[in-house]
Amino acid sequence: MTENQPAGDGETDLSNECKELLSLPKERGWISLHQHQYQGFWCPTEIFQGIIAFQKHFQARDSDIVVASVPKSGTTWLKALIFAIVNRQRFEIKIHPLLTSNSHNLVPFLEVDLYRNNLVPDFSSKFPEPRLFATHIPFPSLGTIKESNCKIVYVCRNPFDSFVSLWHFCNKVRPQSLAPLSLDEAFDMYCQGMDVYGPFWDHMLGYWKESFKRPNNVLFLKYEDMKKDGVNHLKTLAKFLDCPFTEEEERNGVIEDIAKLCSFETMKKLEINKTGTFVLNMESKNLFRKAEVGDWVNYLTPMMEQRMSKVIEEKLGSSGLTFKGTPELADHVQQN
Ligand code: A3P
Repeated sequence: MTENQPAGDGETDLSNECKELLSLPKERGWISLHQHQYQGFWCPTEIFQGIIAFQKHFQARDSDIVVASVPKSGTTWLKALIFAIVNRQRFEIKIHPLLTSNSHNLVPFLEVDLYRNNLVPDFSSKFPEPRLFATHIPFPSLGTIKESNCKIVYVCRNPFDSFVSLWHFCNKVRPQSLAPLSLDEAFDMYCQGMDVYGPFWDHMLGYWKESFKRPNNVLFLKYEDMKKDGVNHLKTLAKFLDCPFTEEEERNGVIEDIAKLCSFETMKKLEINKTGTFVLNMESKNLFRKAEVGDWVNYLTPMMEQRMSKVIEEKLGSSGLTFKGTPELADHVQQN
């Protein structure tokens, strides 16, 4: 299945070290011409060098907070929530940085923003403690973060909706020189585990297992549950991050204020999110589509539904990890 084509878009600026690594398995990419399989996961060419540099240079601190996710699982939302919780003493809601900056620009991705292009960031001035970072890198490849005592908050989403979200997003941000990815082709790649930073099942399982081993360090959240009960999730998050809401804050409606500030409806309407850009100079407006649970029914055929159900059952069935907003998995698996 591996292509052996010459290097294409995005590969000319890479360091020698990365050029060597480009001999790794290569496939058609989602947001760029190619993606590469490195340490068992798939990453777009543009991000590859940042991953290597991050692994080589980043020194995690015990006080760091890291937002982790598979793309299109609610990362933008979780970044906003954590930024607002941790900085709630510093900023008034009415003049909050989240009203004038996209959450991705407040909580940068380690491999995509900070270490991209082999830059070694200056952490001394711009990052007050606790430092807030994000990553899509799978748990086993997290370098010093794995060995530190820092807090990792992982968000996952049911793969049906995640896939539909990813397919829409990638077709909006792919360079115009590349043909769009058809739904069928993208679905096939996704079910084979060739999604961005995928296979999605390995990605989820890595953090899922770690959240049981080290519950004080890894909090595993589900997008669907957060949508259903935002206020309780805010309390869980604040407690996990060692800054629980006080009774006075609860009485004063601080939790509801943060929930509203970070809501899809608020964020989507902001001028900065309509006109601004975020990582890799992508337009922020593409981060906000529908934010619905179960929207996949509008896109996937019954055959696709069955195939995805089977993949989920096979790969995640024994893990205890379940999702809301999906069809009854057991029915479909039995039919086959
Ligand atoms: P849809 O494409 O289904 O609408 P990520 O932030 O990881 O890229 O995930 C993007 C998904 O989260 C998109 O889903 C997007 O609409 C949704 N989303 C963005 N901001 C959100 C928010 N504040 N609350 C809930 N969902 C949000």
